[in-house]
Amino acid sequence: MELTTRLRRNRASEGLRRMTSETRLNVANLVYPLFVHDGDGNEPVASMPGVERRSVKDLVRECREAFDLGIPAAAIFPVIDRAGKDSRGSHALSRDNLLFRALREVKVAVPELVLVADVALDPYTDHGHDGVLTKDGRGVDNDPTVEILCALAVMEAEAGADVVAPSDMMDGRVGAIRGALDASGRIDVCILAYAAKFASAYYGPFRDAVGSAQTAPISKATYQLDPANVREALREVELDEREGADLVMVKPAGPYLDVIRAVRERTKLPLAAYQVSGEYAQIHAAAQAGWLDYNQCRDESLMAIRRAGADLILTYFAREMAEKLNR
Ligand code: PBG
Repeated sequence: MELTTRLRRNRASEGLRRMTSETRLNVANLVYPLFVHDGDGNEPVASMPGVERRSVKDLVRECREAFDLGIPAAAIFPVIDRAGKDSRGSHALSRDNLLFRALREVKVAVPELVLVADVALDPYTDHGHDGVLTKDGRGVDNDPTVEILCALAVMEAEAGADVVAPSDMMDGRVGAIRGALDASGRIDVCILAYAAKFASAYYGPFRDAVGSAQTAPISKATYQLDPANVREALREVELDEREGADLVMVKPAGPYLDVIRAVRERTKLPLAAYQVSGEYAQIHAAAQAGWLDYNQCRDESLMAIRRAGADLILTYFAREMAEKLNR
C-alpha cells in the first residue's frame, strides 16, 4: 500500500504515546469529597465501596494524608442525625453543628488544605430538599432559602472554609452570598458555583451516604436542571459568573461531557466537574461483577472529564488516584 499518512507511527511505543498524549491528569486537578458524622468510629457507605462516614478525628487524619499526597482541596459533607433535622433545616445555622466543628478542626490541623463547604440545606431538612418549602409545602421557596444560605455561607467561612460551594440551585444565590461574605469582611473566600447542576438520578448513593434520601424518592426538578438542557445550563453559568462566582461547576460529569465542553468554550473561569456518587458506584459495581476492569475504567473516566475541558474534578477516587500518580 502506498499510504502517505500513517497515524499509527505516533502510537508505536510507550515513549511516543506519552509524548503525543494531549491530556494530563495531575494531583492538582483533584478535589476530594469526604463525609463526616457524629460518632467515634467510621461507617462504610454500602453503595460507595471504599467511602466512609468518618469521625471528626478520622476526617482530620484523612485530610492530612490527602494533603501530603498533593491533593490541594477537600469538600466536606456532614451526615446529620435524624434528631438534627427539621422542615426548615434550622440546625444548619447552629454555631456548634457538625460541619462547623469539622471545618474548624481540619483548618487548624491542615491549614494549607483548601476546604470546600457545600451551601445547601439538604443535610439538615427532614424532607431532603435543598431549601425551605413554600406555605403549601409543594415547592421550595427561593428567596427565604437564599437568605438562610447567605448566613450559612458566612458561618462556613468563619469556621474555616476557603471556598463556599452553593449546590442548591436557587436563583440569585451567588450574588447574594458574595454580598453577605463581603459585608462580613470575608472578601477572600471564593465561591465555587454548582452552576450547571442537573436533576440527576446519579446522586442516589450520595443521598444514602448523608441520609438525605426519603422513603419516597424526591424530585428536585423545580430547581435543578433538566438533563435535556444544555442552553439553559449555559445561561446558569453566565448568570453565576456575572453574580461573582470565582469558579464554576458542571455536575454530574461523565454523562454531561458535552456540557463541560460547551461551558469550557464560553467561560474563562476555572471549571470544575463533579464525578458524582452514582458514577463512582457504577464503576465499582461493574468491576465487582467482573464485567469491567476497575483501574482502567476509573482512569479512563477521569481522563475523559479532563479531555472535555474540566480543570478540576471532584471525585471519590481522589486519594487512590493521587497515590497512583505519585508512584
Ligand atoms: C446537596 C448535594 C448533592 C450532591 C452534592 N451536594 C445531592 C443532591 O443535590 O441531591 C451530590 C454528590 C454526589 O452524588 O456525589 N445539595
